[in-house]
Amino acid sequence: MSRNVTRPARTERPISATFVALVAALGGLLFGYDTGVVSGALLFLKDTFHLSSGQQEIAVSSVLVGAIIGALGAGQINNILGRRKTLLLLGVVFTIGAILIAVAPNFPFFLVWRVIIGLAIGAAASVVPVYISEMSPPKSRGALVSLNQLAVTLGIAISYWADLGFARANLGWRPMFATSALPGIFLFLGMLMSPETPRWLASKGRWTDAERVLRRIKGIDPERGIAEIHQSLLEEEQRAIGAGELFKPGLRRALLVGMGIAAIQQLVGINTVIYYAPTIFQAAGAPSASSAILATSIVGVVNVLATIVSLFLVDRLGRRPLLLIGTAALAVVLFFMGLFFTPQFAAHVRVLILVALICYIIAFAISLGPVFWLMSAEIFPTRVRAIGASLCSFTNWLLNFVVSISFLSLVNAIGQTWTFWIYAILSVLGFIFCLKLVPETKGRTLEQIEHYWMHGPR
Ligand code: GLC
Repeated sequence: MSRNVTRPARTERPISATFVALVAALGGLLFGYDTGVVSGALLFLKDTFHLSSGQQEIAVSSVLVGAIIGALGAGQINNILGRRKTLLLLGVVFTIGAILIAVAPNFPFFLVWRVIIGLAIGAAASVVPVYISEMSPPKSRGALVSLNQLAVTLGIAISYWADLGFARANLGWRPMFATSALPGIFLFLGMLMSPETPRWLASKGRWTDAERVLRRIKGIDPERGIAEIHQSLLEEEQRAIGAGELFKPGLRRALLVGMGIAAIQQLVGINTVIYYAPTIFQAAGAPSASSAILATSIVGVVNVLATIVSLFLVDRLGRRPLLLIGTAALAVVLFFMGLFFTPQFAAHVRVLILVALICYIIAFAISLGPVFWLMSAEIFPTRVRAIGASLCSFTNWLLNFVVSISFLSLVNAIGQTWTFWIYAILSVLGFIFCLKLVPETKGRTLEQIEHYWMHGPR
């Protein structure tokens, strides 16, 4: 591998890793908004297009089908085009998609574009964390990558409130979707001003460009950075690290950890709450539909606030303690949720369900929510980072689909109590998985993490 390093002109504008992280996190905002918006829009969509309940399920899940495919394809596109161009492309797709969905003349047209938006969501879910992790100094990487999850939760909360606002103003579903064109445009414009990551540039042999970007990022030691990237790319080259390496001893463990956390994040049932909270509140005896929606919006806000707390914890306490505390707390809360749905609990005690749901969302938002997306972007070596992250994202979207499509049927078949107890048992298994297999990655450089999988702890 040749390494031509020339000194860049001194006048180059410095880059703040926080700024580029905020720009890229608009991809997370779109992920959250575009997945959350359909819950409220559904009430209006079904009238416009005369949808049966089966068609309503398709309207909700179409975006997830797109996301599963988008997650799989993201790795390749991200490697070939680079992180920056991929995000530019996603900005275009999000914007055009938002506008076309808003003017959809019929249901099939609507569905096709929801699937296309899903492709962009699935891709953004792994490309954004990879981009941010490759642009961040190690000591603040956790918080910066977790800005993405903060943006996801913000997107979900904004979509709940936007639905409520447009519904109250009698404007129907079209503006609910059109609104997301705005962050799409900002993502595109922001990425025009942001550079490609040093690691991707170096992996394509563009060392001069890589060093130039490293020198511009505030808080990074460029000499050390370029030496570390060089060292690990050299090792990756000697070991011929390609996608196949992910399945061999060493990196196989990284893949197992990443896909394992991806699965746990969904199997604790988070999206039964995110997508069906109003239904859960109604089943719990909420006096009216609007009080159920209000309770849902509160859950949305708590999700954002708890995610903000996680930004402060992830680089201090570390990823592993958060995962252990989170999965343990989720198991306990889910056990009580199930209990509160048993007939012994009279209706007046059912306000406890709102309390339990809030505790549930807090436990998720400080742990599995941000930590999974963060670790999926930091546990793989540069050459397979995009592919590894996209396999994790694929696992996550697939199980998201399975859990959300089966939730109502599960409740009908075995009742609320046992449904939540199943998620409780899965949380316990998740706790054991994290305890036995997940290493701490806090404060390490991406290259040190790579070294850990290949050679064990230093
Ligand atoms: C995470 C999950 C996503 C969920 C969201 C809720 O990003 O991956 O499925 O909807 O958290 O905050």
